[in-house]
Amino acid sequence: NAETKGNPHHKKVVNVAHRGASGHAPENTIAAFDKAFQMKSDFIEIDVQMTADGKLIAIHDTTVNRTTDGTGSVSDYTLEEIQQLDAGSWFGEEFAGEQIPTFEEILDKYRGKIGILIELKSPELYPGMEQKVAEALKERNMDKPRNGKIIVQSFNHESVQLSKELLPRIPHGVLAGMSWADVTGEELEEFATYADYFNPNMNIANEDLIDRVHGKDMKMWPYTVRTQEQADRLLDLKVDGIITDFPEYVHRHPGKN
Ligand code: G3P
Ligand code: CA
Repeated sequence: NAETKGNPHHKKVVNVAHRGASGHAPENTIAAFDKAFQMKSDFIEIDVQMTADGKLIAIHDTTVNRTTDGTGSVSDYTLEEIQQLDAGSWFGEEFAGEQIPTFEEILDKYRGKIGILIELKSPELYPGMEQKVAEALKERNMDKPRNGKIIVQSFNHESVQLSKELLPRIPHGVLAGMSWADVTGEELEEFATYADYFNPNMNIANEDLIDRVHGKDMKMWPYTVRTQEQADRLLDLKVDGIITDFPEYVHRHPGKN
């Protein structure tokens, strides 16, 4: 496994398709996840939220307004209602009729084919979400380390801690926005007690940060790359992975890395 073996400075960078290959197909849909698979990403990143009737689904915003033809809060829709929305047309007419997928559908469709980086999105809005994610994984016997191909992360670090207690054998990640630019050694040390990844906004990623993250035995997968220049800068920093809308920017160029 090129990701985990050998000199950490000469390994392949992990290619993570953000919300699927969302530069090419509507984010968090099967079309975007299939595209990521076709483009040979190592992982898809998915945003998980919960419907009014307690079903886990993949969508980024806490409303359906931007990425569907509906309006209103995700939490006000039942699964049946939310799956009637068109989650593809906003991106391009050729994607008309794409549905919001369920978390379980994604697990069943992509397990063993591509890694799944699961983001618990706004878990503070969805009490019990961590337990539901853990149950869905356990039901499928996916709560064991599978070459690290299932990872759970969140900006809500209490949620990450809770999930780690429920899924102790699954690697977890702490997401860190711009406000963590000056993260201290003590804070990193605390994160490392339950997380294996420290995944920052790419704009705070620099040599010092990656050294300090590695010093705590965590990996760093910055987000979200949308240009070749951004990818090249992070590749030069030798980050462990890159979360991108455009998987093609991260595939190594001949002679690079
Ligand atoms: O995986 C990290 C990245 O997805 C976090 O930001 O807003 O795209 O969910 P966001
Ligand atoms: Ca995300």
